[in-house]
Amino acid sequence: MGLRIVMLGAPGAGKGTQAVRMAQEMGIPHISTGDIFRKNLREGTPLGSQVQGYLNSGALVPDQLTCDIVADRLQQADCANGYILDGFPRSLPQAEMLTRFLAGRGEKIEAAVNIDVPDEEIVGRLSARRSDPDTGAVYNLKFNPPPPEIADKLIQREDDKPETVQARLKTYHETTEPIIAYYGEQGVLLNVPGSNAGPDEIYRRILDVLPA
Ligand code: AP5
Ligand code: MG
Repeated sequence: MGLRIVMLGAPGAGKGTQAVRMAQEMGIPHISTGDIFRKNLREGTPLGSQVQGYLNSGALVPDQLTCDIVADRLQQADCANGYILDGFPRSLPQAEMLTRFLAGRGEKIEAAVNIDVPDEEIVGRLSARRSDPDTGAVYNLKFNPPPPEIADKLIQREDDKPETVQARLKTYHETTEPIIAYYGEQGVLLNVPGSNAGPDEIYRRILDVLPA
């Protein structure tokens, strides 16, 4: 039986980097609300046009819309044995809605992994983030360099411009950070220092604290 895990942490803390790897090794789905929104943007769906303004300004998509999408996703068959939520919940109302939704099914979140990285480090990381439009793989020009043969096709995320990164950090501190205490009260919070070490070391730190 896999676990139901949420990844917490500021923009650029490494939630996606770690969640992809955890999901692969645990054989459970990785569910990133940011990835779902960006896919809809790229494909020009009605949801994409609904969320575009929020993403481009670094604001949060409204809670109800976001929760409906996640609830839908969690009812799919591949979620029966656990999953890793990345970028959700990111407000107290979202966290409370998730708790209620799961309680209705006799389920709960078993681990909330909080990757802690100071703001100063975030800005440098995000300006150097690049991703592969074909595979979705995420690299970093400074800290996790891509293979040279794919360098030309890599793209930069629209919201990784320095002004937008500042707005995302502000949103994070105001609205998202309080849910760390919420999961602390539920007894499932796992704090992982996420700076001054590469992705492999952070991954080891996460495995060290996750329940068996
Ligand atoms: P989302 O896609 O979730 O973005 P985010 O939270 O800002 O997080 P990031 O994806 O930027 O960072 P990450 O922690 O995944 O870091 P990564 O692993 O890439 O959300 C985007 C937008 O969608 C939001 O602003 C909002 O508008 C909307 N949205 C999404 N969910 C929502 C919700 N629930 N409610 C409302 N709105 C929502 O790593 C970052 C970089 O650092 C990479 O280049 C990586 O290679 C590098 N790196 C990783 N680990 C290390 C390391 N240990 N050392 C050095 N570099 C590292
Ligand atoms: Mg991410």
